[in-house]
Amino acid sequence: MITFMVPPEKLGTPPMSDSPWELLPTASNHAASLDGLYILLTAVCGVSFVLVIGAMVYFMYAYKYRSPKDKTSPITHNGRLEFLWSAIPAIFLMVFFVWGEVDFVKLSSPPADAIDIRVTGEKWKWTIEYPGRSMASTTPVEGGEYAPLLVVPLNQPVRLTMTSKDVIHSFYIPAFRVKKDVVPGRYTTVWFTAIEEGTFPVFCTEYCGDEHSSMLAIVKVVKPEDYQREMEAATVLEQGAGESAEQFGEKVYKAFGCNSCHTVDGSAKVGPSFKGIVGRTEALSDGSSIVVDENYIRESIYQPNAKVVAGFTPQMPTFAGQINDAQMTALIAYMKTLK
Ligand code: CUA
Repeated sequence: MITFMVPPEKLGTPPMSDSPWELLPTASNHAASLDGLYILLTAVCGVSFVLVIGAMVYFMYAYKYRSPKDKTSPITHNGRLEFLWSAIPAIFLMVFFVWGEVDFVKLSSPPADAIDIRVTGEKWKWTIEYPGRSMASTTPVEGGEYAPLLVVPLNQPVRLTMTSKDVIHSFYIPAFRVKKDVVPGRYTTVWFTAIEEGTFPVFCTEYCGDEHSSMLAIVKVVKPEDYQREMEAATVLEQGAGESAEQFGEKVYKAFGCNSCHTVDGSAKVGPSFKGIVGRTEALSDGSSIVVDENYIRESIYQPNAKVVAGFTPQMPTFAGQINDAQMTALIAYMKTLK
């Protein structure tokens, strides 16, 4: 079973535009030009298709073999026609090339004053890091679900420097028309200026394994004067006043994306279910066994491959340096409630 970290209906997709040409919100500086090129390409291809196939069907009918007396037409060539059917497509191809090249150069050249935000992809979550702040950004959205939140200010250029910890992922913001592969062992960048306030979904668009489709994030475009506050709020995960350790632990479980791989209902996913995990005796892949206690949980979160439960592949990333002590304690308290 696949569960979305953020159900798509909670991603806050903005209303459709009135324009029949605009299928998605055009929420970045790149969107209008790329849409224009796409529409031109589609229109030219559509018209060419009708002309070429139409002519073919017409000729099939007009020159159908009717009797042995039919003679083949004596025409050898038509210089003017041949020139036109070469020159007109060539002009369109040059328009596509120049338009595409200008947009590509623009997409590849972030302005020097762009805000630098780091994005790390791994199976199966995104981590967003802002300048001067180390904590991974994961924030509740409507309905209490959690997703990595990329907060950006309106009308200011933002550059994303991205890398992957494991396999190739791809960071795609449809509303912004930007998409770039996120590759282990190197940095790739994209930049954009958001021109519309609101929240927009982010997808992974490189098939990266079981939970590829739940590798989601959210871009939130805020007023420049709210940026600092919103960005800081997105990078804090602390136990709230009046919140029990168990409640906070459940937040941690969702905020760090543990739920991508570990269920709480007893069904095994990529990793063992958390239901009834504390006190359970687990057979390990090296043939030994262990009773799950606080220390084993802690070790498995910080050094996931140290003692792997039999039947599961050692593929969990480490959360060392991400989940702090308070969050760890709360997470374990929450796991104890999953009887
Ligand atoms: Cu990451 Cu698909």
